[in-house]
Amino acid sequence: MSKLKTAYFCQSCGYQSAKWMGKCPACQQWNTFAEEILQKEDAQKKGDWKVSSSTSLKIATKPQRIDEISFKEEDRLITPDQELNRVLGGGIVAGSLVLIGGEPGIGKSTLMLQIALQLQNYKVLYVSGEESLQQIKMRADRIGLKNENLYLMTETSTQNIFKQIEQLLPDILIIDSIQTLQSAFIESASGSVSQVRECAAELMKYAKESSTPVFMIGHITKDGSLAGPKVLEHMVDTVITFEGDRHLAYRILRAAKNRFGSTSELGIYEMQGEGLREVSNPSEILLTQREEDLSGISIGATLEGNRPLLIEVQSLVSISNYGNPQRSSTGFDQKRLNMLLAVLEKRGGYRLGAQDVFLNITGGLKIEDPALDLAVCVSVISSYEDIFIPNSICFAGEVGLGGEVRAVSRIEQRISEAEKLGFKTIYISKYNLKHLSPENHKITIKTVAKLEEVFEQLLSN
Ligand code: TYD
Ligand code: MG
Repeated sequence: MSKLKTAYFCQSCGYQSAKWMGKCPACQQWNTFAEEILQKEDAQKKGDWKVSSSTSLKIATKPQRIDEISFKEEDRLITPDQELNRVLGGGIVAGSLVLIGGEPGIGKSTLMLQIALQLQNYKVLYVSGEESLQQIKMRADRIGLKNENLYLMTETSTQNIFKQIEQLLPDILIIDSIQTLQSAFIESASGSVSQVRECAAELMKYAKESSTPVFMIGHITKDGSLAGPKVLEHMVDTVITFEGDRHLAYRILRAAKNRFGSTSELGIYEMQGEGLREVSNPSEILLTQREEDLSGISIGATLEGNRPLLIEVQSLVSISNYGNPQRSSTGFDQKRLNMLLAVLEKRGGYRLGAQDVFLNITGGLKIEDPALDLAVCVSVISSYEDIFIPNSICFAGEVGLGGEVRAVSRIEQRISEAEKLGFKTIYISKYNLKHLSPENHKITIKTVAKLEEVFEQLLSN
C-alpha cells in the first residue's frame, strides 16, 4: 500500500506547507496549521462532474476568438427578489458560482430556500448536508410559498450529487453548506481546507461547463476558526455576506466581491415569523415615529452602497459617577466616537471628559459612512445640553480633527432622499455647495464650515 500523502494547511487562509509551522507566513496568524491528507494517489477522478454526450450541454474546449463569444444580457436570471438582484448586479448570471457567507443562525438557509421557492418557473435543486428533508419542508411551510419545481436532497458526497444532477438537470443548484460536502478524492474530514477547496473546485467546473448558477452557503464563525469561506473567496465569482444582529430583525445582504457587478450594492431584509421580507424603502422603518420631543436624537443622511439611508442616531450623555467615564457605541465605530468626543471637547469646549456617553444607531445597522459624523456630534450635544432637535432636520457631513465640517460624496442623492421623506432642512458642508444647485430642491439647505456654526444655528432656534 502506498503511503498517505499529507500536508499542513493554514485553517485561516488555506496556505499549504510541507512542515508544521507556528505562524502562517501568508496571513500571519499563529497556531493555525493542521495536517490534512492529500488526494489518494491511485484515485481516478471517475465520479467527478463530467458532461456526458447524452446531455445537451456544451463545453468550450478550443480557444475561441473574443468576438465570436456571445454574451447576452438575457443570460441573467432576474429573480422576484429585488434585493438579491440588486446585490448580484442585476440578477443571477448563468454559470456563476456564488458564495453566501454568514454567521450560523443569521438566516442563510432561510434566504436561499425562500429564493428557491420564489423561482417558480425554474427547476431548482436544494442540497442540504445539515438538515433533514422534514426540517426543510417545515421551513418552507413557514415561509408559506409553494414551488412544484423545487427538488430537495440531503447528501454530502459531491459524486452522488453530480450523479443526481445528471439526471435532474436543474436550472439552479443550491448547496447548504459547502462545509458539509465531501469529495471522495480527498481523505480529510469535511470542512477542512483541502476538502472545501476540492468540493468548490468540482462545483466550479460543473457551473462553468453546464452554465448552471450555483449558490454555496458557507459559515463564518466570529473568530474565523472554521476553514472555508476565506479559502474560497478567490475561487468563486461572487461573495455575498448576510449579516445583522441575530436579536434584531434586520438583515443586510452585501456583495464583498462580484465579477459581474459592483460591490457597493446592498440588500435589506426583515426577518419575520414567515420568512424574510424585502425592505424596499429602508429609511421609513429606520426612522422611529416619535411622539415626544426627546433630546439626544438626530438624523443622518448616509449612503450604504449606492443607497441613501436616513438613519436615526441616539445618544445619552450623563454624568459619570465612577472614575472612568464609559463610552459605548452600537452600530458606529467606537474609535471614531472617541475622536468626535475629543473634537467636541477641544474645539467646542464641551466638558465631555466627565460624562458617560452611549451611542446607538437604530435598526441594528453598522454604519461606516463618515457622513454620519455630523449627526453623531449633534446627537451627543443635544443630549448633553438637553435640547431637542426637531425631527424635520437632518445632517450629512464628515467632521475633521479641527472641528471642520467636510464635504461628503454624492450629496445630491442624500438631499433628494431627505426631500423625498419630507425633511424640511438639511445641514451640509459648505464645500459640498460647489457641485450643487440648491434652487433645484425644495428642502432648505444650510451650509456650514465648522461644528460651532451648526450648534449656534440649532441653539438659537
Ligand atoms: P437559518 O436560515 O436556519 O440560519 P442559517 O442557515 O444562517 O444558520 O435561520 C435562522 C433563524 O431564523 C432561526 O433562529 C429562526 C429564524 N426564522 C424566523 O425568524 N422566521 C422564519 O420564517 C424562519 C424560517 C426562520
Ligand atoms: Mg442553515
